[in-house]
Amino acid sequence: MYAKFHSIGAYVPSKVLSNADLEKMVDTSDEWILKRTGISQRRIAKRDEYTSDMATEASKLAIERAGLESSDIDLIICATVTPDYFNMPATACIISDKLGIKNVQAFDISAACSGFVYALSIARAFIESGMKKHVLIIGAEKFSSIVDYTDRSTCILFGDGAGSAVISATEDKEEAFIDVHASADGSYSDFLVTPAPGCVNPVSQQVIEEGLNFVQMKGNETFKLAVKTLTKDVKNILLKNGIKAEDIPHFIPHQANYRIIKAVGDSLKMKEEQVVLTVGKYGNTSAASIPMAINDIYESGRLKKGELMLLDTFGGGLTWASALMPFAGESR
Ligand code: COA
Repeated sequence: MYAKFHSIGAYVPSKVLSNADLEKMVDTSDEWILKRTGISQRRIAKRDEYTSDMATEASKLAIERAGLESSDIDLIICATVTPDYFNMPATACIISDKLGIKNVQAFDISAACSGFVYALSIARAFIESGMKKHVLIIGAEKFSSIVDYTDRSTCILFGDGAGSAVISATEDKEEAFIDVHASADGSYSDFLVTPAPGCVNPVSQQVIEEGLNFVQMKGNETFKLAVKTLTKDVKNILLKNGIKAEDIPHFIPHQANYRIIKAVGDSLKMKEEQVVLTVGKYGNTSAASIPMAINDIYESGRLKKGELMLLDTFGGGLTWASALMPFAGESR
């Protein structure tokens, strides 16, 4: 039994936070943000719009586009670092309830921006072992809930959103995953961190006063390591599978910063039209970034059945992951 990338869906909140809006909030400028990151705007969920809500909307689309019913799903994996509740219940359980799916295994994983590709690797293993047939994987984030909107070094980068995919069993090797690779190096765990809440810093007055519940990032160090790791990982997966970069119609890197994407694309000698870019309009949506980008090319009619996708991601942990597979859903 093989696993195939069966369908994609996404949800984008309606509220836009533009660079001009940020100019009124912190000491920054549209010009600086555009030049250093390529980001013009990002989407922000409403106060009462949660990670599980965005994930549910994205999942409804993915299930419908796979030609399935909710009851066909036999495993739900939600990748997020901004869950509805930090300890329990898992956001995947809340999503299962909102989708009306009963009695299936449902759990969250935490791999920051690499979460969706980590989830792919888990879904593939469950399917290839014969344990599951249709796995719903989700990358969803309400990142605005952990961003300090007085910190100009982080608040310009992140946005909210969700993307979902159905990974299904198939006997046809032609439509199967080619490879997935996921890895981590915890010695860089202080590069991207939300210090609280957790057992290191349980909620306290001090946590609130020092803003330890907000994301902290060593931006420059992260940037350099991101370029190096993303490039190495994607070159390895191509080499291992005997595929040339020029034969990839859709290179879908994590959407963190245009300059990172450009540096990786250039080192692979990718043409502009091969590289999927959504960071300008959505910012960095962490685990949601790759499925939102896949959905973008699907909805615009650029992603056709059978075309190869190369995913490449990097995030807090530090974690990184890449994946190579054809799109096995119907073209739009
Ligand atoms: N507006 C204006 N100036 C800003 C600013 C902002 N929003 N943020 C930082 N600056 C200033 C700094 O204070 C610094 O000023 P100084 O030279 O007077 O000290 C200067 O700009 C350069 O700061 P630096 O942090 O070195 O900038 P940079 O070129 O590294 O760009 C990031 C900053 C955050 C855009 C960049 O480091 C980055 O994208 N890092 C990776 C982030 C990432 O991908 N994270 C997620 C991984 S999944």
